[in-house]
Amino acid sequence: MRVATIFLAILTVPLFLSIQISIAQLPFDDTISSRTLDAILQDYAFKSFFRPKTGVPYDAKLPNNLIGVKVSAMRLRSGSLRTRGVQTYKEFQIPMGVVEQPYVQRLVLVYHNLGNWSEIFYPLPGYTYLAPVLGLLSYSGVDLSADELPELDIRASDKPILIKFSDVKPAPFGSVPKCVYFDVHGSVQFDILLHDYVCSTVQQGHFSIVVESNAPSPAPTPIAVAAAIGEGSEKKNYKVWIIVASLIGGCMLLILLSLLVVRMRRIKNGMKIQELEWGADSNEILQMTSVGGTKAPLAIGTRTRPTIENDYIP
Ligand SMILES: *[C@@H]1O[C@H](CO)[C@@H](O)[C@H](O)[C@H]1NC(C)=O
Repeated sequence: MRVATIFLAILTVPLFLSIQISIAQLPFDDTISSRTLDAILQDYAFKSFFRPKTGVPYDAKLPNNLIGVKVSAMRLRSGSLRTRGVQTYKEFQIPMGVVEQPYVQRLVLVYHNLGNWSEIFYPLPGYTYLAPVLGLLSYSGVDLSADELPELDIRASDKPILIKFSDVKPAPFGSVPKCVYFDVHGSVQFDILLHDYVCSTVQQGHFSIVVESNAPSPAPTPIAVAAAIGEGSEKKNYKVWIIVASLIGGCMLLILLSLLVVRMRRIKNGMKIQELEWGADSNEILQMTSVGGTKAPLAIGTRTRPTIENDYIP
């Protein structure tokens, strides 16, 4: 049975390896949620810190499968955020009076610019984006090696936080651009756009500028979505192939394994039957000994003392 265990171990290793590899190679695409993206970006943002100065933005280095997304992180003392705010942090202007919940001594403000990934992570049917989706999220800055940190909750109590969008596409003639706000729980709100492409908020989340797509023909949205899916289809195929290949590989290994186990059982049963037969033949327990590589019953000396029948004396 030891041999069987070793075989099992050897055969399961590649199975696990293939599963691991297929997980590691999964490319990013629109199958991951915006919340998962937040967690991934938090991780990369924190990794960009190396003995960070407070109040200085550090741009994160992102992997190639997130080209088009920009992420920065800025570490602040909670007290200085409350009493001074941050004049400019990319497109954000943070006034004094912003407080976090729960209280931490240091916090990190993570900035997102989702660029051409905006529609993929924040699809908004019936609307067209005129600007990339920008995000501002706050995390505890106490442990900079932490990942999958929950967000803190920040609120502007005095004046609102302003977002001054820089690269805004012109609105189609006759349409009214609006601010759109996504909170961290997934709800969407619209607000008026201030002069100079400025949106305002009292909370963290994701922000952009949109216009309603032409009501009679909602064509642009499906086309845009189809184009996005088309772009991603090669990656998707690749992913599907990896999954299919590892599934097939896994099944084949499982079949092999069960065949092996059945065979081992048969051999073992065969050996047992033989032992039983030997036992039945000799009707006594034989001492076993090793001869070369195999075990064989061993008999030393005389096993049954002969009795002479005519020794019988009444
Ligand atoms: C965004 O643009 C970059 C090139 O600028 C491209 O490599 C990337 O695939 C694009 N992403 C999406 C989701 O279209």
